[in-house]
Amino acid sequence: MIAVAIDGPAGAGKSTIAKKVSEELGFIYVDTGAIYRATALACIENDVDMDDHDAVESFLPQIDIRIIFFNGEQHILLNDKDVSEEIRKENVSMAASRVSAIPAVRKFLLKLQRSFAQTSDVIMDGRDIGTVVLPNAQVKIFLTASPEIRAKRRVLQLEEKGETADFDKILYDIVQRDYNDTHRETAPLKMAENAVEVDTTAMTLPEVIEKIVSIIKEQTQ
Ligand code: DC
Repeated sequence: MIAVAIDGPAGAGKSTIAKKVSEELGFIYVDTGAIYRATALACIENDVDMDDHDAVESFLPQIDIRIIFFNGEQHILLNDKDVSEEIRKENVSMAASRVSAIPAVRKFLLKLQRSFAQTSDVIMDGRDIGTVVLPNAQVKIFLTASPEIRAKRRVLQLEEKGETADFDKILYDIVQRDYNDTHRETAPLKMAENAVEVDTTAMTLPEVIEKIVSIIKEQTQ
């Protein structure tokens, strides 16, 4: 089995890139941020106080998260309901960053993430894939871009969907999430020792895809 870990901060383009590269190489793509998002959504819907780590931990057994693949697309089922769209809302993004700092949450989601790499060639993206989830991944990529360009890309993405976007607010949220994700005690976002860093600030999407495909081919030959 081949495992490719792609880590990096929010909005670096991990999911868009991982999706395209996995299509090109015939791997399955697992977006691990989605399961943190589903956990956060479950807390929001059930009024679980995310600052109360004990309350979140005792709520976890009531959460059933499943990832299914339909027409090559990943769908997230939270207690049998497809929440793939709902988990993309901005309030869920920030809540996911908060719940993901809770060690019990990370432990709860670890097994689910690892199970995918046991049965298929995978490209998995997240924050701690190369460092914690799949430390033996054959290829590790750390994808970055400046906060400003990440905010700009997010604005464009929202505008394409016909939604209004406030650049300053999005940039503020990105910087805040970067801080949360890199400063938490358990499995913080950091580059794995043997990862290749790809800074996409001045690169186009096709350039990034070409670069990642060539890194994967080079390292798995
Ligand atoms: O990649 P994303 O924006 O969908 O992730 C949402 C949040 O989940 C992110 O702010 C941090 C957390 N996360 C994590 O801690 N570890 C992962 N492997 C993936 C996401």
